[in-house]
Amino acid sequence: MAGDIANDITLIRGSALCALLGIRYPIIQGGMTLVGTGHLASAVSAGGGLGVVSAGRMDEATFARETDFALDTTDCPLAVNIPIGRAQEWTEACFNIAIKRDIKAVLIGGGNPKPWCPLVKDAGKLLGIVVATPDQAAKAEAAGADFVVAESIEAGGRTSREELAGVTLIPAASERISVPLVAAGGFVDGRGLAAAMVLGADGVQMGTRFMLAEESPLHKNTFSAMLAADITDTLVVGTRHHMGRRLLRGQASEMVHGSEISASREDMIAMLSGEWSRQGLHLGNLEQGMIACGQGVGLIHDVLPASTIIENTAREAEAHLRRALSIFGALNEQSSGNA
Ligand SMILES: Cc1cc2nc3c(=O)[nH]c(=O)nc-3n(C[C@H](O)[C@H](O)[C@H](O)COP(=O)(O)O)c2cc1C
Repeated sequence: MAGDIANDITLIRGSALCALLGIRYPIIQGGMTLVGTGHLASAVSAGGGLGVVSAGRMDEATFARETDFALDTTDCPLAVNIPIGRAQEWTEACFNIAIKRDIKAVLIGGGNPKPWCPLVKDAGKLLGIVVATPDQAAKAEAAGADFVVAESIEAGGRTSREELAGVTLIPAASERISVPLVAAGGFVDGRGLAAAMVLGADGVQMGTRFMLAEESPLHKNTFSAMLAADITDTLVVGTRHHMGRRLLRGQASEMVHGSEISASREDMIAMLSGEWSRQGLHLGNLEQGMIACGQGVGLIHDVLPASTIIENTAREAEAHLRRALSIFGALNEQSSGNA
């Protein structure tokens, strides 16, 4: 199916990101703790995007098994995401698992990526670094990143202290780097991909949209809660203690938000690092559980196979870009006619 539409989609397929990663469409599945399984990553890659197995919260054996599953079930390029900030031993084990496997790229999110960059580069893998400011984008390129993901405040999951919106972050980051730039945060469809490319990105990384893929491991209650949400139905908790996270509004997330003023840093760590995420994402417990997701949740109205999400996004983006080009074409003709 994906191959059938590929010939008509020339504008976005010309992206430097497609050439670098060897993918059909410039769409990366965001690394997502508890969501980025081998099954989801494989489906995204087979659909023409870049699937990302996400190490966060997996033990080493599970991470190895999920990565192997993805590699065994698709021949298309695959990546892994390793969040920095957990125990050194675990991080080291995950990098060693990743570099020994036939994956295309390693994405590093959170924390200081620098100590880990040489390991990835020496193993001949492409290195992607997730950043939140134009300065960090420049530093990521200097550290050896082959592509940079700039994540803005609309995104689900962890938010940055700077809280930059995509409409300013993307153009500013694009001015600072020469490697491909990937926009992340609030992109869920073709309008988003087209806009990101006009702002200076070479593609998008989508997290929330792929949470609502048929291959995603979320509980059916969680699917329902997300499908019912509007763009105003997320909130950011933890900013006071610099551990911001964007979550779906619900009993538990509102409670954490409400207690933030009086909570100590330790209270906040306890509230945000417990079982809540598994309860919300995997067990569909909408009372005690919490669901990390981005503002774009309000723009998603269906659960679709990952390949359909990718095709629809690509097709719509191409149409939006062509329409914009034709408007400018018509304007040019008009002004030359007036001259
Ligand atoms: C449930 C969830 C878990 C996430 N976990 C990670 C992670 O482990 N590592 C990482 O680099 N980013 C993580 N992210 C961020 C995504 O990779 C992606 O950049 C973000 O979801 C993009 O914004 P969007 O949700 O608006 O599409 C997570 C996001 C969500 C929603």
